[in-house]
Amino acid sequence: MRIALVIHSKTGNTLSVAEKAKESLLKRGHEVTIFPLSPLNPDASKVSEVKLSSMPEVKGFDALILGAPVWGFQLSPVMQYFINNTVMPPSMAVYVFVTQYFPFAFLGGNNAIRGYEKLLSVKKQKAKKAYVIGWSNQKKREKSIGFFLTDLPSFLP
Ligand SMILES: Cc1cc2nc3c(=O)[nH]c(=O)nc-3n(C[C@H](O)[C@H](O)[C@H](O)COP(=O)(O)O)c2cc1C
Repeated sequence: MRIALVIHSKTGNTLSVAEKAKESLLKRGHEVTIFPLSPLNPDASKVSEVKLSSMPEVKGFDALILGAPVWGFQLSPVMQYFINNTVMPPSMAVYVFVTQYFPFAFLGGNNAIRGYEKLLSVKKQKAKKAYVIGWSNQKKREKSIGFFLTDLPSFLP
């Protein structure tokens, strides 16, 4: 299966999870590409201010994994911009995750996942699975990443 990971990561946490996912999916025989989103103004705090150096083309992939940080209890504006400006065929299976500082999903992650759901519904899409990974507590972080890596492949079409 052809899998695209579209990732926004300012300080590297989300990208490090994506790289682990890539490694694990490659081992399962999938074809995997990571597309890091590179904003021209990395500190833009509103989706209306975001400018990307290029937009990944996800048409032709069977599955799309979106990963981004939580910013101010919301999905990062860069990921919001990407979803708003991307055509997603209904046949594509979509999965989402966020990383956040706090160890509890109610401190931003859950709301960011609702952000994904809202934007994807405009595209007539729905995430098959959603994951929140808290960063500050190492033990919890490793457990969440481990769960993400083993759970997601079982939901691939
Ligand atoms: C502007 C900004 C706002 C943030 N807001 C939150 C927040 O509301 N809740 C939270 O748990 N972490 C928050 N964080 C922390 C990041 O979500 C967390 O460090 C994340 O793992 C960073 O991912 P990255 O390294 O891929 O950029 C914020 C970070 C930034 C830069």
